[in-house]
Amino acid sequence: MRIDVITIFPEYLAPLELSLIGRARRDGLVDVQVHDLRDWTHDRHRTVDDSPLGGGAGMVMKPEPWAEAFAAVRADGQRALGEDVEPLVVFPNPAGVPFAQATAQEWSQCEWLVFACGRYEGIDERVYEHLADLGYEIALASLGDYVLNGGEVAVLAITEAVVRLVPGVVGNAESLLEESHSEGMLEYPLYTRPATWDDPAGVSREVPPILLSGDHGKIAAWRHQQALERTRQRRPDLLGPVDAPGAET
Ligand SMILES: C[S@@+](CC[C@H](N)C(=O)[O-])C[C@H]1O[C@@H](n2cnc3c(N)ncnc32)[C@H](O)[C@@H]1O
Repeated sequence: MRIDVITIFPEYLAPLELSLIGRARRDGLVDVQVHDLRDWTHDRHRTVDDSPLGGGAGMVMKPEPWAEAFAAVRADGQRALGEDVEPLVVFPNPAGVPFAQATAQEWSQCEWLVFACGRYEGIDERVYEHLADLGYEIALASLGDYVLNGGEVAVLAITEAVVRLVPGVVGNAESLLEESHSEGMLEYPLYTRPATWDDPAGVSREVPPILLSGDHGKIAAWRHQQALERTRQRRPDLLGPVDAPGAET
């Protein structure tokens, strides 16, 4: 998979050199290229923003650097991947479609993602029209119903969620199957050794005895029940009518 990120704060993406994604990059599973949008400006101040037409607070990102950036990144990517390969261009945007695990699954199959990090009040609307006219596939992805200062944090989160689903990135692929949201539920509670833990307040805490039984069928059934209960309590919106609170069981 190739990932390009266009931003005015390339340093913000430094964490993509760490941990699982850093290793995936070194192993050649993911090629991440970070670009400074200001490289496609032509004035002394490397200006990427201007005041909103029609008035209003804040600044808007100018269309010209974005158009040049996309053309250059597309040409660069196609040199590496092949002339016929096209990217999915993702704009993190609080007014976009909520990013979810299903989106991460879908995008983990993509050969090429280009992320465009907005700043200020956002990007001039004509950039989206221009890209659509050129035939780019575009997605506006929201990290949640709140407003960040820029798209970089969203790109870090989305990239991590996507890349860990790329085959080979997470060593034990089975661990991805039972996670929260992988099957529309939250994960069951987790425990490790010691089986009896005397906490600092002097309370002796046992793990649920079923986990020590060695009966894998019963453990799986218990975990499923726990996951369902936890989802009912914390995120009833994830459950269908059959499993929702108040439904007969
Ligand atoms: C200050 S925000 C702009 C908010 C915009 N004026 C609005 O009201 O929708 C600047 C940039 O941060 C990013 N951003 C902010 N909140 C986000 C969220 N919840 N999800 C994804 N990206 C977000 C986007 O790239 C956005 O262009």
